[in-house]
Amino acid sequence: MIGQLRRKDTSSFRTAKSPEYADAYMMDGQLATDRRKRRIDETEGNIVRSLVGMLPAGARIADVPSGNGRLSQVVRRDDLDVVAMDFSLSMLTAMANRGDQAGSWLGRRVQADVTDLPLPDKSIDLFINMRLMHHIQDEDLQLRMYRQIGRVTRGKIITSFWTTHCWRYVRRRLRGKPLRGYAISPRRFQEICTRAGLTVERIVPTRRWWEEECVAICRP
Ligand SMILES: C[S@@+](CC[C@H](N)C(=O)[O-])C[C@H]1O[C@@H](n2cnc3c(N)ncnc32)[C@H](O)[C@@H]1O
Repeated sequence: MIGQLRRKDTSSFRTAKSPEYADAYMMDGQLATDRRKRRIDETEGNIVRSLVGMLPAGARIADVPSGNGRLSQVVRRDDLDVVAMDFSLSMLTAMANRGDQAGSWLGRRVQADVTDLPLPDKSIDLFINMRLMHHIQDEDLQLRMYRQIGRVTRGKIITSFWTTHCWRYVRRRLRGKPLRGYAISPRRFQEICTRAGLTVERIVPTRRWWEEECVAICRP
């Protein structure tokens, strides 16, 4: 019998705005010592890098939510126009500190809500939208987010979701442990994208049948 579902309180779309979270999230120290997290980070970074590599000079990238700039820093081309947006000022500040430490510029930073983007229609060539979907329980919010992203994007979209089709999710359920995010099936993800007007080109599990985190490449 599958264990009773229990969840930590991650129901709010905007839980992630405290300075404590910003400081703790994906600190370089943690990435350096946790092999599992590092592998996921590398897989995501490699996909972003390959998409960035295909962009012509002058192309525009939006990284929303940017968090502390983990993926903005993968864009190491000064011939591209990069804007990083996050709801949390703490995260944007952490991103600026990160850029100072790395001695590199990580792009323009703007405080914004991904469901109401201050960007013109079809102005973005690559939209990076990583690690937010699994925090959102509400389907209307999921749709609003993807519709906004589709509105502003003319090129590719890289996003992520947590899949129920993996051992880590099944193991948590069997043990009755609290679920940490909102995992969905790949088919459900496809349905949400279709309803939001996006086409899913490819889904790449960060570790097939094992990890929850899946990367998806879509287009409007
Ligand atoms: C798990 S982090 C992911 C950050 C980054 N994409 C990465 O992969 O490293 C989630 C981020 O979403 C941001 N966030 C939550 N709700 C948001 C919203 N409505 N609009 C923009 N950013 C939001 C949080 O402040 C947090 O920085």
